Amino acid sequence: MKNFIDISDLSSKALRSIIEEAKLRKINRKNLNKSAPDEDKPFEGKSMAMIFEKPSTRTRMSFDIAVKQLGGSSIILNPDVIHYGKGDETLKDTAKVLTEYVDIVMLRTSSHKNLEEFGKHLDIPIINGLSDKSHPCQIMSDIMTFEETKGLITGKVISWLGDGNNNMSNSLIEAAGKFGFQLKIGCPTKYMPDKRILNWAKKNKVNLLVTKKPEEAVKDSDCVMTDKWVSMNDKVNKKLKKKHLKNYQVNKKLMLKAKSDTIFMHCLPVGRGEEVTDEVIDGKQSVVWRQALNRVHAQKSIINWCLN
Ligand code: CP
Ligand code: NVA
Repeated sequence: MKNFIDISDLSSKALRSIIEEAKLRKINRKNLNKSAPDEDKPFEGKSMAMIFEKPSTRTRMSFDIAVKQLGGSSIILNPDVIHYGKGDETLKDTAKVLTEYVDIVMLRTSSHKNLEEFGKHLDIPIINGLSDKSHPCQIMSDIMTFEETKGLITGKVISWLGDGNNNMSNSLIEAAGKFGFQLKIGCPTKYMPDKRILNWAKKNKVNLLVTKKPEEAVKDSDCVMTDKWVSMNDKVNKKLKKKHLKNYQVNKKLMLKAKSDTIFMHCLPVGRGEEVTDEVIDGKQSVVWRQALNRVHAQKSIINWCLN
């Protein structure tokens, strides 16, 4: 079974093939309507079930459109309206039933172990649509977006500012190892990447710098990235966390310390005026809307990879 749970689970070769297929399919359908199927309809007669334990705009929309473009259909399940591990039906039994109905499952969960637990009992692939630990689909879309703008990411310098210990930064560290780019994380000590991912990075010889100095993190950078200071279900004192991260805001002054042609990325939703200023996110260097669009294209290849 080919599940797409974490970037670290796949070989560099498999990840590269996903990105290349995404780019090619995007080019090949440039004259088609947004939801029209690709000529080969590889997912025809097939369907995907999507379960969202947490809110989502982009992941929900982009997977639905991705499946349509592959010629298939999707159904969105809200855990509140299905039997889903709350005592009336175990995750295991729900997984067995979904196996009978659909060809692939996408899960957005507050608990990464639900992905593993669900995946164990499904006889069909499962895709991670964001967990508390990782957000691999977003990072795949970001790599595609980077390469469309600036060419091969291998050997380039990517900077991450703000919360260095969340789902996005974890997946980005894994991607740095698999795609061979340098990653510089600028964050306060309290929000540094955790031991588990730092050990993974060390073992996999990731070119990683973690610094408390935001200017050092963006120096020579080809791409500056950030994320909400307080993630969904982040059980922290929000006011205090925002205070700790204040100096890591991506603003014009900080962008000027990166390469002059650097780009700005954010997975969205954004805390405007917090982790990034309007001037930067709405400015010429920002590629955030294309990142959102490329979720569709990257996820089409992820689905194809899982099923082939
Ligand atoms: N970037 C992202 O995953 O957005 P949603 O939470 O809207 O799905
Ligand atoms: N780190 C953010 C990403 C949102 C797409 C969160 O988990 O809320």
